[in-house]
Amino acid sequence: MTVLLVFGLFIVIVTAHNITYLEVPQYGDPRRDAALVCHYVSERGDPPLHSVKWYRDNNEIFRFTPGQQPPTRAFNSSAGGVSSGVCNEHSCAVSVALPRKFNTRISFTCEVSTEGPRFAVVNQTKYLTVAVTLKEDPVITGASGTVQVGEDVLLNCSTKAAMPPANIVWYVDGKPERSDPWMSDNTEVSPADEHGLRSSWRALRVRVGAGRALLEVRCEATQPSKPPYTRSTSTGLMVARSPHLSMYTASGSSSTEAAVVLAGSITVHMFFTYSALSKL
Ligand SMILES: *[C@@H]1O[C@H](CO)[C@@H](O)[C@H](O)[C@H]1NC(C)=O
Ligand SMILES: *[C@@H]1O[C@H](CO)[C@@H](O)[C@H](O)[C@H]1NC(C)=O
Ligand SMILES: *[C@@H]1O[C@H](CO)[C@@H](O)[C@H](O)[C@H]1NC(C)=O
Ligand SMILES: *[C@@H]1O[C@H](CO)[C@@H](O)[C@H](O)[C@H]1NC(C)=O
Repeated sequence: MTVLLVFGLFIVIVTAHNITYLEVPQYGDPRRDAALVCHYVSERGDPPLHSVKWYRDNNEIFRFTPGQQPPTRAFNSSAGGVSSGVCNEHSCAVSVALPRKFNTRISFTCEVSTEGPRFAVVNQTKYLTVAVTLKEDPVITGASGTVQVGEDVLLNCSTKAAMPPANIVWYVDGKPERSDPWMSDNTEVSPADEHGLRSSWRALRVRVGAGRALLEVRCEATQPSKPPYTRSTSTGLMVARSPHLSMYTASGSSSTEAAVVLAGSITVHMFFTYSALSKL
């Protein structure tokens, strides 16, 4: 802290610790502790660090006071507090137990105060949503093998267990697909597993029309968390070029040759598969 006396006026330049980065994961799995880290710096000549406090939804859960014994104290541990904390004059890392209430949004605040004469206080807040996000992209099945022209391709898109369960939307050539009436209109969700997690699936029937060269299907799985979490998978179906049927009848080619060409023309090849990860 620097004090300047200028024409009888006190101009007080308060320097204090500054929070440079607050690490709070956007999503937290309630089966394990969330790791939070608060990083801070002080300017040369600043008064020493007085304390670092962690708040969960405005309730203090942890305090680091280097000048006191013991220097660290945890509060309110019964409501799922801090299980461990490692702090020094640059950073303060704590592990916090999370409630088993999916989609709950919890605020975590780090507050850093500097020793007197003016106890300058800075704080920063970030939010964590209790959710088990999808660790893998959804999987599309049924997109391999051969299909007769005019036949329907039945695709199925499924996710691994997550919470909240993902909603699935199909896109064909970039356009969202409406389900057939005989199929359920919504994403199917499995019963909860032993951890309370649910997987999702949704089927899609695609008719490969004539004259199509390439069909791009995409399955997008979005967990309705705050903020939503999305992963998607795409598959390209290449439709083999279909020669005009008169070619066979008009030409004098042998029946085996014709059969080979015909088989090739009605084969739908799996062209490429790729996956994309996106967060909304
Ligand atoms: C903290 O750092 C930022 C950027 O480096 C700066 O603009 C701000 O004035 C600093 N705050 C304090 C209280 O020192
Ligand atoms: C953080 O600081 C603001 C003022 O800068 C204050 O209103 C708020 O109560 C503080 N939050 C906590 C959790 O201390
Ligand atoms: C402990 O935490 C609960 C829930 O977060 C809160 O309602 C309560 O006021 C807290 N108690 C103290 C002493 O901070
Ligand atoms: C789609 O896949 C899921 C998960 O593997 C399965 O339970 C479901 O029966 C399949 N649905 C269809 C129509 O194949």
